Amino acid sequence: MPIAQHGSRLGPQAGPPVPTEEVQMRWFVTGGLGFIGSNFIRLALRERCDLSIVNLDALTYAGNPANLADLADEPRYTFIHGTICDPETVDRAVGLGVDAIINFAAETHVDRSILDPEGFLITDILGTHVLLEATRKFRIPRYLQVSTDEVYGDVPHGESTEEDRLSPRSPYSASKAGGDLQVLAYRATYGLPVLITRGSNTYGPFQYPEKLIPLFVTNLLDNQAVPIYGDGLQVRDWLHVDDHARGILDVLDRGEAGEIYNIGGGNPHTNLEITRLLVDNCGRSMETHVRHVGDRAGHDRRYAIDTTKARALGWTPRIEFKDGLRATIDWYRANEAWWRPLKSGEFEEYYRRQYASR
Ligand code: TYD
Repeated sequence: MPIAQHGSRLGPQAGPPVPTEEVQMRWFVTGGLGFIGSNFIRLALRERCDLSIVNLDALTYAGNPANLADLADEPRYTFIHGTICDPETVDRAVGLGVDAIINFAAETHVDRSILDPEGFLITDILGTHVLLEATRKFRIPRYLQVSTDEVYGDVPHGESTEEDRLSPRSPYSASKAGGDLQVLAYRATYGLPVLITRGSNTYGPFQYPEKLIPLFVTNLLDNQAVPIYGDGLQVRDWLHVDDHARGILDVLDRGEAGEIYNIGGGNPHTNLEITRLLVDNCGRSMETHVRHVGDRAGHDRRYAIDTTKARALGWTPRIEFKDGLRATIDWYRANEAWWRPLKSGEFEEYYRRQYASR
């Protein structure tokens, strides 16, 4: 598998960056050109001057070099183009020695998993297996799997704790649950130093405009209607991506090997409430810009997670939802050059398949 370099001054066969005197810690991040991964890398490098990061990303439709364009001249950052499903690429990258693997690489969109499930199984389960094998082979001291609260399935009442039964109901969440179970099996069988974080619905800058918030914001900025599935009374718990990234950092630093940590924003809202906030902020109206469309198959009504365990590590979400949402809308307003190209080509085809007959 060829290694192409983007955003790095290192040559094509280079491994992790050459250590400088300051660099003490090297992390191997996968899927770091996606939404949460790219925000995580930016935050981690900004906050820790002793850290270098090697980022392996497959550049699928959701992996975008523009997400980390600001790191083009950062010597502590190296990009490798490749997939976590390829053991040779993974081994070559981690074989030179890394202190942690943090796996963000995943297919993540429920609606796409309903249309085409197979790729989810390959990346989210097989890819996880490849990374776990590398962790075992090279005795990597820490492995963190970035997972999701969707593995608990629909939660009509109360909040899911980390001990709760997994009841995934979409091909996406079942694939993520399969990845989590592999991680836990490698803990039980081989004693690997693994951690799992399960984040709630995440929002913020650089989110590909297929998920609820960026899709609706960009549609509204474009003076287009937004499609609400079913009655719109489904509940999600919203977490700002910076709070999510900080949660992952805290779990990496202080989490106990073998443990799972829920990371939730504590901002439960129905989709209709979110839509109203977005519509108002963009100066549109519910009457003219909202379209109720056929519901998603197997649509989970509610997610809610108990975050006591992550809070016991000292983590707490810092960003007020109203402030974070307003800042996110402003970011999309100011960064049309980022999202406009993403809504053409492959996206138009997807949008037609997903919404035309609803
Ligand atoms: P989404 O952002 O896809 O996240 P998830 O399904 O992983 O929670 O969807 C969030 C909620 O918004 C979910 O209840 C589905 C709903 N939704 C719509 O009503 N219309 C849409 O076009 C999209 C993308 C989502």
